[in-house]
Amino acid sequence: MKRQFSRLLIAGCTALLLTPTSQAQGNPEQGASLVTRGDGSGAPCMACHGPDGGGNAAAGFPRLAGLDADYLAKQMQDYNAGRRVNAVMQPNVDNFSDQQLRDIAAYYSELPIPMSSSSSNAGDKALAMGQKLAESGDWDNNIPPCSTCHGPGNRGVGNAFPALAGQHPSYIKQQLEAWRSGQRTNDPNQLMTAVAERLSPEQIDAVAAYLGSLSASTR
Ligand code: HEC
Ligand code: HEC
Repeated sequence: MKRQFSRLLIAGCTALLLTPTSQAQGNPEQGASLVTRGDGSGAPCMACHGPDGGGNAAAGFPRLAGLDADYLAKQMQDYNAGRRVNAVMQPNVDNFSDQQLRDIAAYYSELPIPMSSSSSNAGDKALAMGQKLAESGDWDNNIPPCSTCHGPGNRGVGNAFPALAGQHPSYIKQQLEAWRSGQRTNDPNQLMTAVAERLSPEQIDAVAAYLGSLSASTR
């Protein structure tokens, strides 16, 4: 069972890495002006994602700076198509064309990663548990290491596997819970659903705190 599950995961990962999903290039200068204006009906991005794209740890708004452009574009396309559902985020991009979304994605992907403002009061025990999950997994419960897919140091791989290192723990936790409860379902091949549904609430807190404590900047 264990072996079958890991084979399935590896097949899923390989399929993703081999699928040519690279999108047309965006124009970062166009993107810069779009993010300050917003889409007409929503708020300017920086109101929530910060002037430097660093997000907001307390509110659980994700950091966008330095994430892969195709990953960012896919997420915004998913909001617009109703594949990713979030009432706070959706209205902010629904008037943008596909090209505009790619321009915005190009802009954020090229922004330097701000120094992490994520502080966590997780104790050493929780951080150690989080590190073990992130780097070695919990095979007794069929949970592969996050780094299998999210790459060395969980700094992201290609356009399918986003960087987690230095992302806000509040946001990471929120996403894991969203997959567990079936609220987020836009992951290719249900790769994240399979992981999140096996995590205990304690493991979610621990791995979110650990990943948030990592330095994001080596891209
Ligand atoms: C009112 C606050 C708010 C504003 C304004 C806002 N966002 Fe967001 N954004 C959020 C929240 C909350 C999430 C996480 C939602 C979820 O859980 O799906 C999010 C998620 C995202 C994501 C997904 C990130 C990831 O790592 O998967 C992208 C991309 C994004 N926003 C882009 C934008 C852009 C571009 C704008 C401006 C045009 C914008 N946002 C404006 C609150 C906001
Ligand atoms: C089998 C591959 C795989 C494994 C293992 C995996 N992930 Fe993921 N993860 C993905 C994929 C694919 C996505 C992107 C989903 C999408 O496109 O919406 C993702 C996205 C995420 C996101 C959303 C990031 C964002 O910016 O919105 C979080 C948080 C996350 N994973 C956490 C974890 C954690 C924590 C672990 C380890 C306990 C883990 N993942 C293990 C494949 C995996």
